[in-house]
Amino acid sequence: MQTQGHDLDYYAALAALEWQIELGADCAIGDDPLDCYALPDHLEKPRVPEPAAPPAAARPAMARTPAPEGPDPVLVAQQAAAGAATLEALRAAIEGYELCDLRKGARSTVFADGNPKARVMIIGEAPGRDEDQQGKPFVGRAGQLLDRMFAAIGLSRATPDAEAAFYITNVLPWRPPGNRDPEPAEIAQMLPFLARHVELVDPDLIVLMGNAACAAALGKRGILRLRGNWAEAFGRPALPMTHPAYLLRQPQAKREAWADLLSLRARLNAG
Ligand code: URA
Repeated sequence: MQTQGHDLDYYAALAALEWQIELGADCAIGDDPLDCYALPDHLEKPRVPEPAAPPAAARPAMARTPAPEGPDPVLVAQQAAAGAATLEALRAAIEGYELCDLRKGARSTVFADGNPKARVMIIGEAPGRDEDQQGKPFVGRAGQLLDRMFAAIGLSRATPDAEAAFYITNVLPWRPPGNRDPEPAEIAQMLPFLARHVELVDPDLIVLMGNAACAAALGKRGILRLRGNWAEAFGRPALPMTHPAYLLRQPQAKREAWADLLSLRARLNAG
């Protein structure tokens, strides 16, 4: 590896690589720099010769043939989700769902973690690099902060005690490339699985972690406005909260997050 014409030794190169990964880089690109500003605004489409017109006799028959259309991804997801009678069946249905392109770039299908008997179900956005590698939600830095936050109100993903446990999943089970935001179409495709997931776990309370979870469950964005205000999602009380990844970047927002955790604790104590 070279920077500004200087050779790096092994350890400096490794540190530089780790730093880039920490910043979110997740793939290597070409050796030569590419000046994106020098590229034309739009590249000309290659000229494709017009296909020869079919013989006149063939034309009416072709006009009657409907254009081949793929299956409706949301409908297929709804049917697959509705057919899942258990969490294991739901996991298998998601693993077998082929109409979301995200799965092609992901290493794992990240389904859920924690205690399915828990009273609290947390819904996050999508797996990141660590989650994709380990196949479990919220295991990276944000996940470690999330575990500490919920431990502070007596909740853990590792306990068999349903009263003291939480269960956790994401809107999307596959990592979006480069950790980009989930697209509305991806959320819409996977929403039937999420709705069924909530039905099967049947939690008393839901926590919506960040904008993607609010978009999926409430049809609304604007987490800084929504957070702390109890809403209804999937027919049960739901509390929007700022995502722990946001809290890592904006530690001053932890004060409001703490207020939200106390609100959750109070709601649990009330029955
Ligand atoms: N962020 C999320 O929303 N979910 C994860 O699983 C990890 C990071």
